[in-house]
Amino acid sequence: MQLQLQTWVEVEAYLRSSRGIILPIGSTEQHGPIGLVGTDAICAEVIARGVGEAAGALVGPTIAVGMAQHHLGFAGSMTLRPSTLIAVLRDMVESLATHGFERFYFVNGHGGNIATVTAAFSEIYAARSLPAGANLQSVKCRLRNWWQNREVQQLAKELYGNAEGSHATPSEVAVTQFAYPDAIKSAPLDPPIAPSGEYTDAVDYRRNFPDGRIGSNPGLATPEAGRRLYDAAVAALSKDYLSWVAA
Ligand code: NI
Repeated sequence: MQLQLQTWVEVEAYLRSSRGIILPIGSTEQHGPIGLVGTDAICAEVIARGVGEAAGALVGPTIAVGMAQHHLGFAGSMTLRPSTLIAVLRDMVESLATHGFERFYFVNGHGGNIATVTAAFSEIYAARSLPAGANLQSVKCRLRNWWQNREVQQLAKELYGNAEGSHATPSEVAVTQFAYPDAIKSAPLDPPIAPSGEYTDAVDYRRNFPDGRIGSNPGLATPEAGRRLYDAAVAALSKDYLSWVAA
């Protein structure tokens, strides 16, 4: 159930049976020569909506721009500063908490968001713990990266082995191919498996990873594999969500 397709009357009724909401968070950033700029937002959105269906949970609007300063050397990439993203997440959670939502389950599509989202949770909790917020009801937030669970990791290993890499991975590209088969791209990838390593800012990233990929061969992606990865992620996350929201 998408929040944006409900009326306020329906949301009020939902809150009588559940205090949980799922929030997809991704990024708008380059994903190499064949990966879509929206890869991380698309993966988070389609998987979050699948989890919402499986778990009977409300799914909020996708936060499609994340913390991706290191990708700004490539056209189309966008970022929020960490401080901006923290402010956005805090305002979103506090808006929903006003209505009685208490459990905020973020389905994340971008590794670069993890540190900032975790810091945002600390800000949200601090605002409720400090004396000025002492009368506010408590909220709980959880961040889950769609690819970091046993089901998806096993499948990605079986499908791609050491060609999975860590950015513009065949797994994430496959999920977008499953979601948007009309937007499948192809281009030469040289070398087939991109280099691995570290980076700091956007200039450093582009110097180290000239085509945008890190350690991956997204040329191995297929929409069929994307469906399997989607199914695995939805199964793992809906089980996790349901046990967490009930606790
Ligand atoms: Ni990505």
